[in-house]
Amino acid sequence: MTIHKEASLRAYNTFGIDATASLLAEFASVEELRELLQNTEVQALPKLILGGGSNVLFTQDVEAAVLLNRIKGVIQTEEPDGKHVLVTSGSGETWHDLVLYTLEHDLGGIENLSLIPGTVGAAPLQNIGAYGVELKDTFVSLEALEIATGEVVSFNKEQCGFGYRESVFKKEAKGKYIVTSVTLRLTKEHTFNTSYGAIQDTLNQQEVKELSLKAISEAVCHIRRSKLPDPAKIGNAGSFFKNPEIPLALFEILKSQYPGIPGYPVTPESVKVPAGWLIEQCGWKGKVLGQHGVHKDQALVLVNYGGAAGNDVKTLAYEIIKSVDEKFGIALTPEVNII
Ligand code: EPU
Repeated sequence: MTIHKEASLRAYNTFGIDATASLLAEFASVEELRELLQNTEVQALPKLILGGGSNVLFTQDVEAAVLLNRIKGVIQTEEPDGKHVLVTSGSGETWHDLVLYTLEHDLGGIENLSLIPGTVGAAPLQNIGAYGVELKDTFVSLEALEIATGEVVSFNKEQCGFGYRESVFKKEAKGKYIVTSVTLRLTKEHTFNTSYGAIQDTLNQQEVKELSLKAISEAVCHIRRSKLPDPAKIGNAGSFFKNPEIPLALFEILKSQYPGIPGYPVTPESVKVPAGWLIEQCGWKGKVLGQHGVHKDQALVLVNYGGAAGNDVKTLAYEIIKSVDEKFGIALTPEVNII
């Protein structure tokens, strides 16, 4: 196990920001993780766990021991009902590789979450979601190592406190645990979720006659590739902001001023509004400011064209928040972890 000092994090974050970590090391098992945590140099520093680095923006050098999660392996256990299978994945597996595994084994439940960047271990932290499905819909439990004690503990769905892009690991349990495995309950007999309009449109365009897990996954990949920049080519961390939930009364006022405003009811009193629409209305979509900017096809995504400093992206994010607040009276919050 090698511990690197003053190491560049450029290759370890999808924004492609060149920050330096005090220490950098990888772990491929719970034992290796425990060993790292017992190292005196690691102990002296705060810890930052990175999986795919697809949801962080580094704005300064990282005075921490950055630990790269490489715990691999996937196992299946058949459920007694004969209709479901529990799939347990090492937290360092790439999320999309797990999706491909489930397609190969004809197990349903996460096909709509195809091509989401990042690792399996990061998925529960923000309850990843796309195209009408969230991780919590198939989630059963996870195991995590408690940093203070070195013990591996289990969290069931309720204990994870999932919400929209939220979990207990972003709140009271923040920084206290390192997820080591995740268990999902997947179907052998499938119910396909094509409720998200764009999926149905794509399936029609592709003239798909018979629905299958693979057909849905391919439709989702097609939509994502057409709208979202590939982090391997243009640095980004997906949606930079959450879609805000606003009171129905405010939505109705805005609707009278801006009849085109989209909104999806969340409760009888609140509506979720696409942040991408709000940002586009403020004139930011496709804006290029030197090495960084707002993506041309999806205003919710901030991009690094190469060589941008994390602080430039952060400044842009706060200018966007200010202009959306001034125009609509809505406070956007970042979804990406700004470090
Ligand atoms: N829109 C615009 N302009 C834009 C972008 C969006 O007007 O530049 C409006 C359109 O009205 C569009 C609506 O926003 O119909 C919704 O757009 P889209 O389907 O692209 O979804 P989103 O709300 O922008 C969310 C997630 C994505 C997820 C998609 C699909 C959040 C913060 N983002 O985006 O997740 O892939 O739905 O389910 O909830 C991510 O979290 O990184 C991510 C990419």
